[in-house]
Amino acid sequence: MDSFSFSCVRVVFGWGRLERIEEEVERLKGGKVVFIADRAVRKAVEELNLSFDYEIFSDVEPEPEIGIVDDIIEKFSFDTVVGVGGGSTLDVAKLTAVAAGEKAKAVELVGKKLPERKCKLLLCPTTAGTGSEVTKLAVFKIPKREVKYVFDDESLYADIAIIDPKLTLSCPPHVTASSGIDAFCHAIEAYTSLFSNPISDMFAEKAIAIIPKALREAYANGENVRARTDMSFASLLAGIAFNSAGTGLGHALGYAHNHIHNSPHGKSVGITMPYVLQYNAIADLEKHARIARALGESGSSLRETALRAGIGFAKLLKDLGMPHKLSDVGAGEDDIEKIVDRIFLSEKHVRRNPRVVRREEMYDVVRKSIHGILREEEY
Ligand SMILES: [Fe+2]
Repeated sequence: MDSFSFSCVRVVFGWGRLERIEEEVERLKGGKVVFIADRAVRKAVEELNLSFDYEIFSDVEPEPEIGIVDDIIEKFSFDTVVGVGGGSTLDVAKLTAVAAGEKAKAVELVGKKLPERKCKLLLCPTTAGTGSEVTKLAVFKIPKREVKYVFDDESLYADIAIIDPKLTLSCPPHVTASSGIDAFCHAIEAYTSLFSNPISDMFAEKAIAIIPKALREAYANGENVRARTDMSFASLLAGIAFNSAGTGLGHALGYAHNHIHNSPHGKSVGITMPYVLQYNAIADLEKHARIARALGESGSSLRETALRAGIGFAKLLKDLGMPHKLSDVGAGEDDIEKIVDRIFLSEKHVRRNPRVVRREEMYDVVRKSIHGILREEEY
């Protein structure tokens, strides 16, 4: 077994657990608190009737630019940051807690080792997908950069992640689908990553086993408490797994074509995942066969089963009302060259992929992704 290191933040999980946030803030001796919250949950925060001193910022747009962090630091004074929202909001909360008290603008931190975080940081996800509450990652749009920048630094770990599946009840079906597919891709890519390890595999395998059933059920009926709880749990597991093992070609390709359609992150990564699974399968037949079986697919040999993982994934997308080929979101043959170029801008993702990402083979993967070429008879 190769050597590895593994970290995890304090996790508080359970239905209705947000109502106990006061205890957690007290435990941290939180002082003055700023909530960075999605607009939709502002009221829920106000209704908690908290006794500590706090203000709320609730103007985070989806896929935010990094400058928002400086705006928040300028506007509020605080000792503790509490993020309540989807992945973008949590990422803003994380970088705000790290950049507060620094002289540099947030954009000047790009490409550098981040300073030690001096503010306390609590994170409460309202979607089951990004896993941001347990990762040391934060993703931002940076002016003049073609693909998003991923901060990857231990300063971005939260002190506490409060995961309350009840907060996901208000997610509409398309958000449930997109964020759930993001979680599934995190689990799959971490599981098959060249940087996977025995602990990340345990978390990833469990998430892969839970998601196909729970996500379909949560999408079909958003009031299904068990399915919502299972999805929040699986998203947590997937977050812990990819925080350790990273993601690969699935995310690199998702970032590479997003400029064409500007879809939510999970939808973008999900559209091309069937073709990534098809490409990667021969690099690790056992792991891809396990993914295929979790998706209800089987074959007469290990190879045949592994190669059906992409087909199983495409069926899941179909059940969730999501596109499974790039032509569905406006991409055509003319876009192939640029998409292939942009895959290689995500260097770390490319390096972690189980099958070497060869430029000449990416033309074929992208062409298949555009036309939805995933026919069973090819196998
Ligand atoms: Fe993701």
